[in-house]
Amino acid sequence: MENPFSYLHSILLLTFFCLYSDTFVGAVEQRFQNCSVSRSCGNQPITFPFYIEEEHNYCGYPGFHLSCSNINNGDPRPTLKLFGDDYIVHNIFYQNQSLIVSNTAFSLPNDTSCFPPLRKLSLTTDFFLTPNQSQVFLLQNCHNFSSDLLKYRIGCSAENDTNSVLALPGNDMNRVAKASEKCGVGSSAVDLAVMKLSGENDHGMKEVLSRGFMLSWVADDCAFCNSTGGKCGFDYPTNQFKCYCPDRPHRRHCDPPAGQSLILFFKKSSPNDHFLC
Ligand SMILES: *[C@@H]1O[C@H](CO)[C@@H](O)[C@H](O)[C@H]1NC(C)=O
Ligand SMILES: *[C@@H]1O[C@H](CO)[C@@H](O)[C@H](O)[C@H]1NC(C)=O
Ligand SMILES: *[C@@H]1O[C@H](CO)[C@@H](O)[C@H](O)[C@H]1NC(C)=O
Ligand SMILES: *[C@@H]1O[C@H](CO)[C@@H](O)[C@H](O)[C@H]1NC(C)=O
Ligand SMILES: *[C@@H]1O[C@H](CO)[C@@H](O)[C@H](O)[C@H]1NC(C)=O
Ligand SMILES: *[C@@H]1O[C@H](CO)[C@@H](O)[C@H](O)[C@H]1NC(C)=O
Ligand SMILES: *[C@@H]1O[C@H](CO)[C@@H](O)[C@H](O)[C@H]1NC(C)=O
Repeated sequence: MENPFSYLHSILLLTFFCLYSDTFVGAVEQRFQNCSVSRSCGNQPITFPFYIEEEHNYCGYPGFHLSCSNINNGDPRPTLKLFGDDYIVHNIFYQNQSLIVSNTAFSLPNDTSCFPPLRKLSLTTDFFLTPNQSQVFLLQNCHNFSSDLLKYRIGCSAENDTNSVLALPGNDMNRVAKASEKCGVGSSAVDLAVMKLSGENDHGMKEVLSRGFMLSWVADDCAFCNSTGGKCGFDYPTNQFKCYCPDRPHRRHCDPPAGQSLILFFKKSSPNDHFLC
């Protein structure tokens, strides 16, 4: 024999808890609305976990801010800051959580300036290198190299514009070591990822580098929230995933479809209390 009063009690408690778990109910719908606006840069749609506008940073994850800029006065392209350096985002594959990026330095117009010293990419916990890609060694500030390596010269070095920057495929480490030694004092070598090198590269190495490499990301799965009509986002005060719904932010997903009674829903999902709000 169940006491109907206990349901009422539960609902009251639940309402109380839910109201107070999110402090300012009025601002909440706005976040749902603001994250519902579809955004893009060039022809690249920008959605969770990425975001563009700083003021709407709650629509994405902290490390996923994109800027939209015209590279070389061309079409607008999203750029991503990784480890302090700017990367052009060529393509975002939301369905398998990966994207293709390249260091902006490789997309600057020919002959305008020499290459600034580049660093090896250090990744944060948000992104990792997709496996099975190739490697290129960048020999920077190189003073001397044999003529057979001339085809790997991609430009001058900003450190000393009489010196060169060479980009050598990483598949012949012996050649890389020899060339690196010959480059002389003040030179430095960094290895960079590129997408799979196809046999002999008829295209110049600068183009190989400008085509970029693939990164994969880890972030909460948006599907559950999305499928209940919510907009995935992030809550800075609690440092957690949020599902922004028409009524208010929820923890994982929006309320059950209208028509399903709250009591039924409550009874059904009571083992997972934390899904309720
Ligand atoms: C939603 O976007 C509008 C327009 O950009 C802005 O004025 C408002 O402050 C935003 N609301 C929130 C909660 O960020
Ligand atoms: C994701 O999908 C795209 C397009 O189908 C594909 O090119 C890419 O290799 C995939 N990425 C991963 C990490 O599997
Ligand atoms: C840069 O040089 C490459 C080959 O040398 C050429 O294909 C490309 O069109 C040039 N780009 C610009 C912007 O001049
Ligand atoms: C990498 O490539 C090899 C051979 O092409 C394949 O056997 C392996 O499964 C690939 N690994 C990943 C993680 O894709
Ligand atoms: C630049 O490199 C050349 C050799 O390639 C050297 O003679 C010169 O002293 C260097 N300049 C500076 C400022 O380091
Ligand atoms: C460059 O290397 C060659 C052969 O290793 C050497 O003979 C030559 O003196 C070097 N040039 C300079 C300027 O160091
Ligand atoms: C969210 O759902 C819409 C359709 O309702 C779909 O087009 C979109 O790809 C989904 N996004 C995610 C991240 O699952």
